[in-house]
Amino acid sequence: MIVDLNSRYGLNPAHSEVVEACKVIEPCDTLDMGCSNGRNAVYLGQHGFNVTAIDVNPGAINMLQSIIDEQGLENVKAQVYDINNASLGEHYGFISCTVTLMFIDPSRVEAVIADMQNSTAAGGYNLIVCAMNTEQHPCPAPFPFTLKAGQLSEAYKGWEMIKYNEDVGTMHNGAKLQFATMLAKKPV
Ligand SMILES: C[S@@+](CC[C@H](N)C(=O)[O-])C[C@H]1O[C@@H](n2cnc3c(N)ncnc32)[C@H](O)[C@@H]1O
Repeated sequence: MIVDLNSRYGLNPAHSEVVEACKVIEPCDTLDMGCSNGRNAVYLGQHGFNVTAIDVNPGAINMLQSIIDEQGLENVKAQVYDINNASLGEHYGFISCTVTLMFIDPSRVEAVIADMQNSTAAGGYNLIVCAMNTEQHPCPAPFPFTLKAGQLSEAYKGWEMIKYNEDVGTMHNGAKLQFATMLAKKPV
């Protein structure tokens, strides 16, 4: 039985879309973009994925590193990295980017998505969950970046959409906004 390290270390449970994606994707080299203190990275590591977890916040990476060290999670690597660089330089079977893209420099988002796509192995997967700003549901939070209707599916033209929606969701403070949720598979 897998010990629930998320609750042991006071981490939130893994993002529900990461949990769902794990039902479709076999364990593989995986990148967790904007990992924070590691709720998804720890979950993925415990489920056999070989995880590189990156975040611009050294405090978050230090916290994740202490969990890795204490638990001997040899298949999870934590690194300080600024996603705006768009220079990942490795290939992954799965790149997960949940509620992170909206904190990226808007002028870098196109390059960041292209870099994610180029850094995905043939037949590999990208998971993105990102806030939107639409006419029907103006974004109530001052995120540096938000997606427009259809923008994410357009960027992933040619990939197989395993899941795609732009549903209305609720933030922790009760505010309503649309989120784009996408699990896409790169053509072989
Ligand atoms: C809302 S948290 C999401 C954390 C995690 N993906 C999850 O699902 O819980 C956004 C994370 O993105 C990180 N972040 C923001 N800008 C970044 C950047 N330019 N490069 C790397 N990480 C960044 C923040 O430090 C924060 O940990």
